[in-house]
Amino acid sequence: MHISIIVVIDKKGGIGFSGDQLAYISGDLKRFKQLTTGHPIVMGRKTYESLPNGALPNRRNIVLTRNPQLTCNGCEMARTIEDVLDKCRKEQELFVIGGGEVYDIFMPVATRIYFTHIHHKFDDVDTWFPEIKRDDWNSVMMEGPFTDPKTNLQFSYETVERK
Ligand SMILES: NC(=O)c1ccc[n+]([C@@H]2O[C@H](COP(=O)([O-])OP(=O)(O)OC[C@H]3O[C@@H](n4cnc5c(N)ncnc54)[C@H](OP(=O)(O)O)[C@@H]3O)[C@@H](O)[C@H]2O)c1
Repeated sequence: MHISIIVVIDKKGGIGFSGDQLAYISGDLKRFKQLTTGHPIVMGRKTYESLPNGALPNRRNIVLTRNPQLTCNGCEMARTIEDVLDKCRKEQELFVIGGGEVYDIFMPVATRIYFTHIHHKFDDVDTWFPEIKRDDWNSVMMEGPFTDPKTNLQFSYETVERK
């Protein structure tokens, strides 16, 4: 099984502020849906709480929490990374969709990362993506840059796989 991280990242590795994403780029949201639909996604409890309409449709949604009492509508709950991997052992690809804490814990076992690079440094950032050692990864796809017509932000896609 591929353990794939998918992330939108700014020039300095920023990924979030005040419980929200740094930007919403509609083309990127469509790509996220295309890539993840039909596959399980795992997220931290805080990222789950930031979803405007709760669990994402047509995907197994798995929420990581240390709280054994917590249930989230339409989601499977997991308390450890091992628990997540066990639930997904028959799947082809697991998508780790954030946020910062959950990227940190999955990074050592991740085999692929789908980056959306935003070519801008946001001023207000309180959540970052872990630093990766570029030598450990092959870049297998680059696309862009594109300009988002709504926000005017420049962005590009990159996929890397662990060597
Ligand atoms: N740019 C992007 O692509 C992207 C994607 C997703 C999210 N984000 C942003 O990232 C921010 C949220 O990230 P975050 O780091 O604050 O929170 P998070 O990773 O979404 O969730 C953290 C929570 O996950 C649970 N958790 C973490 N490690 C765990 C472990 N080892 N075992 C069991 N449960 C564990 C805990 O839940 P309990 O407290 O319930 O125990 C913890 O409070 C938001 O700003 C969001 O918008 C950005």
